[in-house]
Amino acid sequence: MTSLDQDQRARMADKIAEIDRICAQARIMPVITIAREADILPLADALAAGGLRVLEVTLRSEHGLEAIRRLRAERPELCVGAGTVLDQDMLAAATAAGAQFIVTPGSTRELLLAALDNPLPMLPGVSSASDLMIGYALGYRRFKLFPAEVCGGVAALKALSGPFGGVRFCPTGGITPDNLQRYMAQPNVMCVGGTWMFQREWVANSDWARIQQCSAEALKLLA
Ligand code: 3PG
Repeated sequence: MTSLDQDQRARMADKIAEIDRICAQARIMPVITIAREADILPLADALAAGGLRVLEVTLRSEHGLEAIRRLRAERPELCVGAGTVLDQDMLAAATAAGAQFIVTPGSTRELLLAALDNPLPMLPGVSSASDLMIGYALGYRRFKLFPAEVCGGVAALKALSGPFGGVRFCPTGGITPDNLQRYMAQPNVMCVGGTWMFQREWVANSDWARIQQCSAEALKLLA
């Protein structure tokens, strides 16, 4: 096991506390990929009006970094993370853009090591016990389970709770209103991520009212 130095250990404890705070606030985290720059503010506003104020903005489109910059500058009341961070360059770019947390779809030791010395908390993606052990050895205790439904869903979360007692997850990938409550009922789930509340055609048609309504309905399922 790679042992963390004292500074890294203290920083990791702070980051875990910060991730817990963000995920408790979120409960449901929209995973947004911006196709048109003009959608950045109205989409975020519709989600926020429906009660979803913690957003993962992916770096999958050319507008990802700009979306993070705009939302941080113009919607300071929201909490904005960067998603689909695949390597150290993307980690640096997301940090410079003002992201408040980092999410990755999977885990490489290089990226996890780099993030130890980055000020932002990170949720590394995992889909197996082996992935988890890469992060666990580096002090990580909070992860994105991705793609959640494909890699075993609720049954996987139950199984992982045995060997990884202190670990908690944000499952993402295949979450819908039909399975949302089962995920959130797991003691090792802190929040879920997904895209169902802003379907592609609703965004394309600027149907912001529908997105607000779908967001609010999802939160109501957790009341
Ligand atoms: C992602 O990170 O790619 C999204 O979480 C996908 O999730 P979805 O199944 O809700 O689209």
